[in-house]
Amino acid sequence: MKSKALLLVNIGQLLTLRSPSGKPGPRRGRELREPGIVEHAAVLSLGGKIVSVGTTKDALQDPWLRKNRNKIIEIDCEGQVVTPGFVDSHTHPAFMAPRLVDFEKRAAGATYEQIAEAGGGIRSSLGPVRAAGKSALAEKVLDALHEMAEQGTTTVEAKSGYGLTPESELKSLEAIRQAASQWPGTVVATLLGAHVIPEEFRNCSRKYVESVCKEMIPQAAKRKLARFVDVFCDRGAFSADYTRQIFGAAALHGLSVRAHVGQLSETRLGPLLDFAPASLDHMDHVSDDDLAELAKRDTVATFVPGANYFLGSSKYPAARKFIDAGIPVALATDYNPGSSPTASMPFVMSLACAQMKMSPAEAIAGATINGAWALRLGDRKGSVEPGKDADLAAFEVGDYREIPYWVASNRCAFAVLNGVLVASAGSGELG
Ligand code: NIG
Ligand code: FE
Repeated sequence: MKSKALLLVNIGQLLTLRSPSGKPGPRRGRELREPGIVEHAAVLSLGGKIVSVGTTKDALQDPWLRKNRNKIIEIDCEGQVVTPGFVDSHTHPAFMAPRLVDFEKRAAGATYEQIAEAGGGIRSSLGPVRAAGKSALAEKVLDALHEMAEQGTTTVEAKSGYGLTPESELKSLEAIRQAASQWPGTVVATLLGAHVIPEEFRNCSRKYVESVCKEMIPQAAKRKLARFVDVFCDRGAFSADYTRQIFGAAALHGLSVRAHVGQLSETRLGPLLDFAPASLDHMDHVSDDDLAELAKRDTVATFVPGANYFLGSSKYPAARKFIDAGIPVALATDYNPGSSPTASMPFVMSLACAQMKMSPAEAIAGATINGAWALRLGDRKGSVEPGKDADLAAFEVGDYREIPYWVASNRCAFAVLNGVLVASAGSGELG
């Protein structure tokens, strides 16, 4: 996938998300409300990188551009809104089938945990993944990546976690790598061998944790199949002690860590923060003391309200408390077959505004620059600035607040992924 020289002109609002203070690092507090808008804007990208950002008038007068205009693909955005491509920093795309029985049972009143205890839940996704060939799994991952790009996502964190044997976890990571090689965006792979204790280890969880630490992590690291190790640290999954053990093994093998925390019950964060996780995700149950502790760190708190919505919860993470405490927050889809089968960042942003009282500007920052920092990619991704990767999303709206406003509607016209232009279905001809 080769990127061409690309000039976007007549952008109605360009949300640059450049740092208001000029300081690097994730956005906190008031900084989250400053999207850095340029009106009547233009962006030029060459070789997959952004080279200039300014007004359309200035761009069209630029001597180099005037001379080279015939070599450049020019797109007239006709007043559309352009943002940095969304960074979906928490997804589980390596699965084979939707979990429709769970869905139906929940509609009949069962809870996520009751369904898991009765043999449904994550464990019921394992059989099909273990039986699948790598290419079949890669095809599923690639379908998800395409669906994400259609809705403006250009960078995706992709977890394994539905195999839960060394062989099937490594196969899942290989499938993620195979899919990533066929998609122009950026994929960051995460080993989630510690998703749940599989049935065959139910009475010897210690042995399973040993397999994660001594087999999965070393092999994934050696073969460079993952950048992060994740743990589902919660009631019914892995304890904080096990999580520390797994984080320790990750550190030993040069992998960074992140965790699912506080989705079903509260876990004290101090013992996990010792390992400087890039992100702690879900965060439905967190104590005030831990919020104060988090505020001192660069660990991003990533909310995944698609899971609250889909599991039928009326409770959402207390985003305002986090933001007021000075904690950097991000938003992600948590795309997965059990708790959040959505690939749409605009839908998640809509939930954040309507249910968590985040402003549209805060939601955009959470879906772009802070998602990038949650993947430790903030110096390359998440804002539209010269030198950064050419990752953009254009929307058929006149005001950026319409992106979360039009609920469950895809207004994305096209995305640019590392300089490669991908039109969304139904958006008509470009340029
Ligand atoms: O983030 N909480 C753990 N993992 C996923 C759910 C996975 C599943 O149910 O398949 C989550 O919600
Ligand atoms: Fe998840």
